[in-house]
Amino acid sequence: MVNEFSMREKSIVFIGFMGVGKTTVAQLVAKKLYRDFIDIDHEIEQEFGMPTTDIFEKFGEAMFRQKEKEYVFKFSEQPLKIIALGGGAFLQKEIREQCLDNNIVFYLDISWDSWKDRLHMLVDSRPILQNKPLEDIEELFNERKSMYEEHNSSLNTDNTDVEEIANYIIDSLKLAWELYE
Ligand code: S3P
Repeated sequence: MVNEFSMREKSIVFIGFMGVGKTTVAQLVAKKLYRDFIDIDHEIEQEFGMPTTDIFEKFGEAMFRQKEKEYVFKFSEQPLKIIALGGGAFLQKEIREQCLDNNIVFYLDISWDSWKDRLHMLVDSRPILQNKPLEDIEELFNERKSMYEEHNSSLNTDNTDVEEIANYIIDSLKLAWELYE
């Protein structure tokens, strides 16, 4: 379903690899624009009453992906939301199409060199990274990159702080709103 919201009303979706900062950036953009912030992983964790790692372990990845699709569809059809997707959500063609048809999709990019310095902070809470050698994670990182290529706007986040990233995104949104309204 394609919604009828104007460019200004469309919800904004953040995509990108695990740990790039989607949640932090989206939360700040939401605050600056006085909009509701939705974190899809958090919605799923709330429903199950447990962290993602336990959901993967007890119910399997397929169940997590199903829930991910349900929540993305629910919120992407509403106006004026700022939504952070989990890094694997765009693996699902239906999610990709739904977001690209209805929302403004921002891709937060990062280089492998910058990202790998964060790995130690991420591994405990990301089931996808657990028990994987660094080379396999790099391969996954590169595979995922091509999946994120479908977006409306992108930004490399290397050496840029959250405040700068959020301000850049808001400036670019304002420009789009002016141009297309
Ligand atoms: C996943 C990314 C995670 C979370 C889950 C699976 C993935 O979200 O949805 O652990 O497959 O890339 P973040 O991108 O917020 O870490």
